[in-house]
Amino acid sequence: MSIKRVGIVGSGIMGSGIAETAAVHGYEVVLRSRSQSTADAMVAGLEKSLAKAVEKEKLSDADRQAALARVTAVSDLGELAECDLVIESVVEDLEVKKHLFNELDRICAEHAILATNTSTLPVVEMAMVTGRPQRVCGIHFFNPAPMMALVEVVRPITANDDTIAAARAFAESCEKTPVEVKDQAGFIVNALLFPYLNNAVRLLEQGVATREDIDAAMKGGCGFPMGPFALLDLVGLDTSLAILDALYAEFREPNYAAVPLLRRMVAAELFGRKSGKGFYDYHKK
Ligand SMILES: NC(=O)c1ccc[n+]([C@@H]2O[C@H](COP(=O)([O-])OP(=O)(O)OC[C@H]3O[C@@H](n4cnc5c(N)ncnc54)[C@H](O)[C@@H]3O)[C@@H](O)[C@H]2O)c1
Repeated sequence: MSIKRVGIVGSGIMGSGIAETAAVHGYEVVLRSRSQSTADAMVAGLEKSLAKAVEKEKLSDADRQAALARVTAVSDLGELAECDLVIESVVEDLEVKKHLFNELDRICAEHAILATNTSTLPVVEMAMVTGRPQRVCGIHFFNPAPMMALVEVVRPITANDDTIAAARAFAESCEKTPVEVKDQAGFIVNALLFPYLNNAVRLLEQGVATREDIDAAMKGGCGFPMGPFALLDLVGLDTSLAILDALYAEFREPNYAAVPLLRRMVAAELFGRKSGKGFYDYHKK
């Protein structure tokens, strides 16, 4: 199938990044946020990010302008009716996502593929609230979406081969490397990554070392580009907790049981970069 127009639902970290990626790679993008002011703020953020890409000589000014011209920001979900592919990237909450899929199914054309950017939640449950479970899959980008090479294409047992092939082709057209994975909590990356992040919080909670030294150890000792606390702050502590809770709900493995400190920090609204403070303070910068 040919995908020309892509709808993105959700104006958070990931929604903005996926919208930018799709627009830069030639797709018409309809960005939907719950209010017009957040939709407009998202476009302003996108303008900034594209200007940075031009500064760094990763994008020409003509391409920046063309990408921006392809983006429309809306608050009405009905505006997604003409999209060939819709990727939702709203909060990591299964009930919210199921409700959204049900609405999208009623609004979108019959041929449209409905995809989720969920990090861990069961895609099949989103598929089953639609009348087109064969055309629902996961298209899981990584943060920041314009920079990270990987896309996990998640195949729920309900999806057909055409849907998975179209999702892979879409990822490749965005210059990403797709990997196909079964619809199981955490897919590949988060199933391996989150026990590590959770155990880093446990070391901090136990007073084994400072956050700075744990980050320095994993960068210097393992060659990781950033340490676990910098990464948790980038992902968002609320999203990280939701991911661990979904992993624990699926596997009941102690390594997935969120460390109390993480849960307390989320209760205190220390979400990381997006709220200005998490394990580190971003207000000073
Ligand atoms: N943060 C990451 O590193 C990362 C990476 C890959 C995938 N994801 C996934 O992407 C999705 C979004 O994560 P994010 O990091 O962009 O989160 P975010 O907190 O930055 O954004 C969440 C968005 O959801 C919207 N939202 C909240 N409640 C809603 C509701 N009831 N109905 C509709 N919209 C609602 C918010 O307004 C916001 O636009 C999640 O499924 C997450 O698991 C996140």
